Amino acid sequence: MEEKKKKDIKDIEDIVKKTQVWKAIFGDLLFGEFKPLSPINSLMRGIAKIMQLHPYNMSVGGKRIITYTFCLGGLSVFFFSLLAVTGAFLMIYYNPDVNSAYSNMEDIRYVVPFGVLIRNMHRWTAHLMVMFVALHMLRVFLTGAYKPPRELNWIVGVILLVMTLLASFTGYLLPWDQLAYWGVTIGTSMGENAPILGAKGPFAILPPGGDVNSVLLGGTSVGQPTLLRFYLLHAIAIPLGMAGLMGFHFWRIRRAGGVSGPL
Ligand code: HEM
Repeated sequence: MEEKKKKDIKDIEDIVKKTQVWKAIFGDLLFGEFKPLSPINSLMRGIAKIMQLHPYNMSVGGKRIITYTFCLGGLSVFFFSLLAVTGAFLMIYYNPDVNSAYSNMEDIRYVVPFGVLIRNMHRWTAHLMVMFVALHMLRVFLTGAYKPPRELNWIVGVILLVMTLLASFTGYLLPWDQLAYWGVTIGTSMGENAPILGAKGPFAILPPGGDVNSVLLGGTSVGQPTLLRFYLLHAIAIPLGMAGLMGFHFWRIRRAGGVSGPL
């Protein structure tokens, strides 16, 4: 009886492991081809790779890689890094306090040396990043690079896209001017009208001040708790989450044997 039970479990495991979903997430690409190298061997390989920034040989189609990807993913990483650096400088002069946030912005623009340059670089790069991530997604779609074995990386990409948009949205509130205040009031009111979890939405089960919108706002309307929450999300949580996911995204590209084409 015990034997039969074990065999049944093994059979079910075999069936599950053959499904596309399992292969996409845990399949050969995650652990299968992994051949551990000795520490010395892997160190030497690492050094060799750094020394030969350009490979000795490449495939015939390899030189078309630029017009295949247009480096849209690479440019998104570049914009992300630029945002991290310019954002770190802005943090020196910005305090997420409703009484000083706006005047901090004015100081950055008119008093701090190179402040206006750094701020505008941060703002324009943010717009560019949203645009380039969307274009990168379009390229991946048009070249069919979302197909097996890259399905999981497509899903990771979608999460990265949502996080890019959330980073933009949370940053929008920080100048604490009228545009930011009302923009975020309107944006977050979507949560208030969400079904079931929003206080004013259809089938609402939660009271005003205790619904999903209030978690984001830290109250019933945009105020000091909102500014602090958005600041922490914008400057810490979202960038750290994105950096981790990007590492995973790149590792999965390597595991899939590199970018999908051209052959
Ligand atoms: C912060 C956002 C993102 C960054 C920094 C990023 C970065 C990259 C980079 C550097 C590559 C290598 C090839 C290239 O440059 O085109 C790549 C490939 C890929 N990305 Fe992204 N990506 C992001 C968002 C997305 C999104 C939104 C999707 C789709 C929903 C996506 C899906 C993929 C897939 C499937 C590949 C493999 C493509 C292939 O093998 O041809 N990524 N990504």
